[in-house]
Amino acid sequence: MAQTGRLRLGVNIDHVATVRNARGSAWPDPLRAALLAETAGADGITAHLREDRRHIRDGDIEALMAGISIPLNFECAATAEMQAIILRHKPHAVCLVPEKREERTTEGGLDVAGDIARLTDYIAPLRAAGCRVSMFISHDARQIEASAQIGAAVVELHTGLYSDLLAEGHNELAERELDALRKGAELAARLGLEVHAGHGLTYDNVEPIAAIPELAELNIGHFLVGEAIFRGLGPAIEEMRRRMDQGRGPVL
Ligand code: PXP
Repeated sequence: MAQTGRLRLGVNIDHVATVRNARGSAWPDPLRAALLAETAGADGITAHLREDRRHIRDGDIEALMAGISIPLNFECAATAEMQAIILRHKPHAVCLVPEKREERTTEGGLDVAGDIARLTDYIAPLRAAGCRVSMFISHDARQIEASAQIGAAVVELHTGLYSDLLAEGHNELAERELDALRKGAELAARLGLEVHAGHGLTYDNVEPIAAIPELAELNIGHFLVGEAIFRGLGPAIEEMRRRMDQGRGPVL
């Protein structure tokens, strides 16, 4: 089947900041990485300002807003502090994610269905400011329907479980999870949501995800920053782009 359109690649640069912060120095510079990603064909830059500022810091967001010419997708938890930061910068896109201090990364999707009233109010000023608001959720139909109900423009489906299952060799379970992601993408598109996906994507697992026709964007970070050690960030991104295009197949 021909796919519906070109799949955008958002490059997440959080872990450039992780390496910088490990030594408390000014390098490697996340803005420099973002500019390189732009040159290598990224369609957007994603950065997650965590409550504990473990990687991206407030100054990075300022530098990215001023320095890049592709859209910034600002990831954060739905807190009052982050809402004020969003309204100050007005990034192109905002992706709301769950955040627990003790987790290593964003481990589960946001519980939109369990927090409808608060999230509706939370995103209203962001939408009024012109930000495209995205919910980072599992493929659960309840979460997808709730995201549409609160007025989000986008859902980003969590691919972490799929990537973990494949990495652990549970191929059948991974195939089942992939199927659930396909069905989730289909439902979200039917409800008028733009559909993105991300988390744990690598050269080895990206193609079946890229083939899901409803997907408009993938956000990929940790693997690319790791791969950059071996082949450089630009070539690492170019190879991901190539694999995404291969998975996508002919574009209408
Ligand atoms: N999308 C969202 C919403 C995320 O929270 C993350 C991780 O920060 C990613 C995509 C990228 O995941 P990874 O770094 O595993 O590629």
